[in-house]
Amino acid sequence: MPTDDITQKVSDRYARAASTGEQMCCPTGYDFDDLKSFVPEEVLTISYGCGTPAGLHTVQPGETVLDIGSGGGIDCFEAARCVGPGGHVIGIDMTDTMLEIARRNAPIVAANLGYPHSNTEFRKGIADAMPVEDGSVDLIISNCVINLAPDKRKVFREMFRVLKPGGRFTISDIVSDQVVPQYLVHDAAKWGDCLSGALQVQDYIGGMVDAGFRAVHQIKSGTWQSIDGIHFLSVTLTGYKFPAVAEEKTSSYATLRGPFSSVTDELGQRYERGVPLSINAQSAQLLQSEPLRSLFLLGPRPVSLAAADPRWCAILPEQLPCVWQSAYAILTGPIICAEDDDHHQYYRGVPLEICSKTFQVLTQEAYRPHFTIYQRAAAGVDGTEVACSPTGGCC
Ligand SMILES: C[S@@+](CC[C@H](N)C(=O)[O-])C[C@H]1O[C@@H](n2cnc3c(N)ncnc32)[C@H](O)[C@@H]1O
Repeated sequence: MPTDDITQKVSDRYARAASTGEQMCCPTGYDFDDLKSFVPEEVLTISYGCGTPAGLHTVQPGETVLDIGSGGGIDCFEAARCVGPGGHVIGIDMTDTMLEIARRNAPIVAANLGYPHSNTEFRKGIADAMPVEDGSVDLIISNCVINLAPDKRKVFREMFRVLKPGGRFTISDIVSDQVVPQYLVHDAAKWGDCLSGALQVQDYIGGMVDAGFRAVHQIKSGTWQSIDGIHFLSVTLTGYKFPAVAEEKTSSYATLRGPFSSVTDELGQRYERGVPLSINAQSAQLLQSEPLRSLFLLGPRPVSLAAADPRWCAILPEQLPCVWQSAYAILTGPIICAEDDDHHQYYRGVPLEICSKTFQVLTQEAYRPHFTIYQRAAAGVDGTEVACSPTGGCC
């Protein structure tokens, strides 16, 4: 389908939804009782997101927040509450019916929040050419929109352009575990359902990194639906536009604490657990960002860690037979590849089938934030016990 056709069909679909109030898309996780205290019903009825990018404590008072594909305005209004009367929220959408509803409700929300005037404006625009000045935004949010844009890489470049150096994004969207085949890509109805345009996790995160974002990682994920064996996941991702750094005269060092036995960061630097490495200012900036910071010891002197050190973190599998139950793990953390203590190699965005023992390992607190885990089989699989290796190690 030509790009213009996709955009027109998506816009028509959302214009129709906004005027009928039909239910679409996915569970979001909003606290609707709380939102009802200041957001009119008309807006809440046409909430078509797949997450809560403004509701995850990501928005700070006084910030300028941009919502790409703001729809009826639900996330803009949540952000309007978080930034306070001194902050500013800009919603962009291409569909007139959505803009009319959002604009009509902005003064009502401001009055409900006790603000002297609305801190939220809605602009007509398209995600890959946004009517927003360069370097003017602290935080970009978006809820189930970028999958609808025909050229996601252009959207990611636009996001990088409009963010201030030091800015960040928190975006909820639908992604897939495999490349969406052409017969679904050319299904016009499934574009509107946030399925046809879904990118594979590795392409989505990779596109963001190529646009200049760093430390791109998941903060929330869930399964959405599966069609013909392709699994669609709802993810919320964060990443940063770092300011330029000057090379420091003093040295600094990084030691990987774990739980991974080794990781490679987005700058291509590989770290082995316990072994200190001298790092430059750019690496230091990257490793100081959350959640990388929690994986490392950073400081002016090299620190070697031994397994007995309380700062060393390792999660070993239980010495039991494996059971294969159709679980897959996708590394979604801020690292591009990593290894665990059973020598499994994980590549960001690439699903790896895992057995019951590895499932146990990856669902523990230290690993859990870095993975999306889902089942590929349509029905539950009991599985049979398998001894994977003579030493009892994992597969
Ligand atoms: C799934 S709805 C989500 C709306 C809103 N974010 C929410 O959570 O309720 C998608 C919205 O994005 C808008 N949209 C889709 N593609 C767009 C694009 N390329 N540029 C601007 N807006 C777009 C649609 O008009 C629609 O309002």
